[in-house]
Amino acid sequence: MKRLQRLRSNIHLRNLCAQTEFNSSQLIQPLFIVEGLSQDEDIKGLKGTRRLKRESALKQIELDLEAGVRQFILFNVPQTKASESFNHNFSSQTILEIKKRFGDSLQLWIDTCLCSLTTHGHCCVFHDNGTRNHESTLKEIALTALSYAQAGADGISPSDMMDGRVSAIRKILDEKNFENTPIMSYSTKFSSQFYGPFRNAADSSPKFGDRTQYQIDVRNPRDAMNASLRCAEEGADLLMVKPAMTSLDLIQPISTLTGLGVGAYQVSGEYASLVLLAEAGLVSFEKALLETWHVLKRGGAQYIITYGARLAKELGVKNP
Ligand code: PBG
Repeated sequence: MKRLQRLRSNIHLRNLCAQTEFNSSQLIQPLFIVEGLSQDEDIKGLKGTRRLKRESALKQIELDLEAGVRQFILFNVPQTKASESFNHNFSSQTILEIKKRFGDSLQLWIDTCLCSLTTHGHCCVFHDNGTRNHESTLKEIALTALSYAQAGADGISPSDMMDGRVSAIRKILDEKNFENTPIMSYSTKFSSQFYGPFRNAADSSPKFGDRTQYQIDVRNPRDAMNASLRCAEEGADLLMVKPAMTSLDLIQPISTLTGLGVGAYQVSGEYASLVLLAEAGLVSFEKALLETWHVLKRGGAQYIITYGARLAKELGVKNP
């Protein structure tokens, strides 16, 4: 009799038959580094990830490197906000210090978006009449990316969803001799409730309206495919879906369509839901987290951005 259960009867058989594998270098750890903090701050829902002062961040990275983390994505949160002509000193200094201290032992991606820089919390620049100023937005995003690259960023990660931003970034990087700096684009990013905990952490809640005019409507798979295709055509090296679990159906199709690696961002609300379930005594946090990573790999994710990357070693994820 055919029995699918036969090959599940012990751990050795289960390991023999495992069809998805991944290593800790395919997990990317987010870091929030905040200007002007007198002390580090917890982020509601994101157990283990805090808003850090620069000095604390350096210590945290040291611990993370010891735990085998190699990939980081940095969210710079400067204190002074503007409506355009942004000042990148805080971010540049932070990147410089991280790279000076840790050099090539890590890969430092920088989230590149205007929402933590603007007074209004939107990912763009506006005309005086309140409409989106596309041209200035692209100019500012490109200049922001360039300042990160000049400070030593290992990769640029645009997360704003503005049409044309990957081309604008690629162009300025190439012109200024950063041809080798890769772009990992948040290419299929839905307008989502699941970014809630993040927006508190990054001071990036819009002060009016929402992001539905530039982020993708969850009802639209075609739009989701086109957004990633556009980023691929504009020169992105790696693509991404976000939120992760609610985009599971798109990972493989986007990868097939574009021929590029597609990662998944397990966003703050997804991670926090596991934290809260565990706090309520309903799941084992560690096991649930590992389960989601396996599912994302099974769905075709090349890499996973997750607030739990620093727990990977504890959870038994192998180093490469
Ligand atoms: C910046 C940005 C956001 C996230 C990553 N980059 C917030 C947003 O678009 O509103 C969300 C990440 C998370 O929720 O963990 N635009």
